[in-house]
Amino acid sequence: MKVTAIGTGYVGLVTGACLAEMGNHVVCLDVNPEKIRILNEGGIPIHEPGLEEVVKRNVAAGRLQFTTDVDMAVQHGTLLFIGVGTPPDEDGSADLQYVVAAARSIGQRMTDYKVIVDKSTVPVGTADKVRAAVKEELVKRGLGDMSFAVVSNPEFLKEGAAVEDFMKPDRVVVGSDDEQATLLMRAIYSPFNRTQDRMLVMDVRSAELTKYAANAMLATRISFMNELALLAEKVGADIDLVRRGIGSDTRIGYQFLYAGTGYGGSCFPKDVKALVRTAADTGIPLKVLTAVEEANERQKRVLVDKVVERFGADLKGRRFAVWGLAFKPNTDDMREAPSLVVIDELTRRGATVAAYDPVSMAEAARVLGPRDDVSLVERAEAALQGADALLIVTEWKEFRTPDFDAIKGTLKAPVVFDGRNLYDPKLMKALGIEYRGIGRG
Ligand code: NAD
Ligand code: UDX
Repeated sequence: MKVTAIGTGYVGLVTGACLAEMGNHVVCLDVNPEKIRILNEGGIPIHEPGLEEVVKRNVAAGRLQFTTDVDMAVQHGTLLFIGVGTPPDEDGSADLQYVVAAARSIGQRMTDYKVIVDKSTVPVGTADKVRAAVKEELVKRGLGDMSFAVVSNPEFLKEGAAVEDFMKPDRVVVGSDDEQATLLMRAIYSPFNRTQDRMLVMDVRSAELTKYAANAMLATRISFMNELALLAEKVGADIDLVRRGIGSDTRIGYQFLYAGTGYGGSCFPKDVKALVRTAADTGIPLKVLTAVEEANERQKRVLVDKVVERFGADLKGRRFAVWGLAFKPNTDDMREAPSLVVIDELTRRGATVAAYDPVSMAEAARVLGPRDDVSLVERAEAALQGADALLIVTEWKEFRTPDFDAIKGTLKAPVVFDGRNLYDPKLMKALGIEYRGIGRG
């Protein structure tokens, strides 16, 4: 089939590449010429395991191309996936300007039946707005009767596992009230559905809400565990044992129960805010979700609270090693990364920071800019030199069994503030390292 991905970011690029892998002919469009240049020169603008191979293979096979040419891209696809950003507006609601601009660019150029697929995370009612924008542009061209469908197909991939998630989805949600469009969506997703029909077809509004509900539920689990971790510390319990104890209940399950430094990334923070906003606007305040967000804001500061408890509020003259800058492992994405709050809180109190991340050093340099109080170092061990303590913010595999003797021998104190509960407190004690995890009373 012929497919166009409008917006070539995490979602658009992964969608385009994975659909090309199944034999579709895909054009990926972006308004950012730099991104398209990198892709056309064989590069990948983001760090995403497995993506480069899929992209290269399908470009070589002539099934995947990248362009800034809107005319060509709109003409190409029968299915047009909109995967542009929906960042938060000043009031927390999703800013739909990029989605509507993409819709207009379709309406200004289409010459035959198109299925316009909303893949971006968008509030309930957005498909109606997309339909109205396309229709308005068609009417301007005297083509008001031209037929098209707008369907909702929210994306559930996780960064760091995006290709795998897309290739083996738990479910594919499609909100559609157009029979032909539903059949085309069934056809395009059939290769991802072979062992079991994972496609859930529903009305458009339910599909739009499903995406926010999923992210809100997952964020709720995390904030719940983070709050319980604070309690566990006070009452002398270990949150990691509690996690195992409740996760073993099949009604609860093990996933997304890890207490840590708060959730970050490009989705949870903005999607929780947007859902809270939509609900407030409709007169149904979501009290649980409002608390989820507040708990997360507090959680991002917990690690530095522990530093202050140990070293005092004035951190002038102190130096801290920070391991992990990306908002989670296996990505270089630093959007809403807890590390940024940790670094800000430490330096605001006068400390200097030496930070290391296995893949997001270039992104960190871009986001943090040149600063005297933060140095980005090339190796984890180098960050320890002259530091009072080590803070672990992201649970990269290479931090799981480090050289504990080197940590002990290099740090001044030695104290480890473990924001991801990577180490056994008993082992740390036996090694003579002062250890503070999250929720390990
Ligand atoms: P991104 O910022 O990585 O990419 C968006 C791209 O769209 C950018 O490259 C931008 O230049 C391009 N763009 C903007 N307007 C355009 C236009 N009119 N025409 C063509 N290109 C245009 O964003 P992302 O992380 O891929 O997220 C996209 C959407 O998918 C958001 O709504 C997000 O909430 C949702 N989502 C993201 C993830 C994720 O893990 N990142 C997962 C699921 C859903
Ligand atoms: C999320 C959703 O999982 C995905 O379905 C959606 O499509 C996009 O948003 P992503 O943001 O890539 O994906 O990462 P995710 O693995 O969900 O982690 C989000 C944040 O929660 C990270 O900061 C992570 O460290 C944190 N987290 C996750 C925890 O603190 N504890 C957990 O148990 C799980």
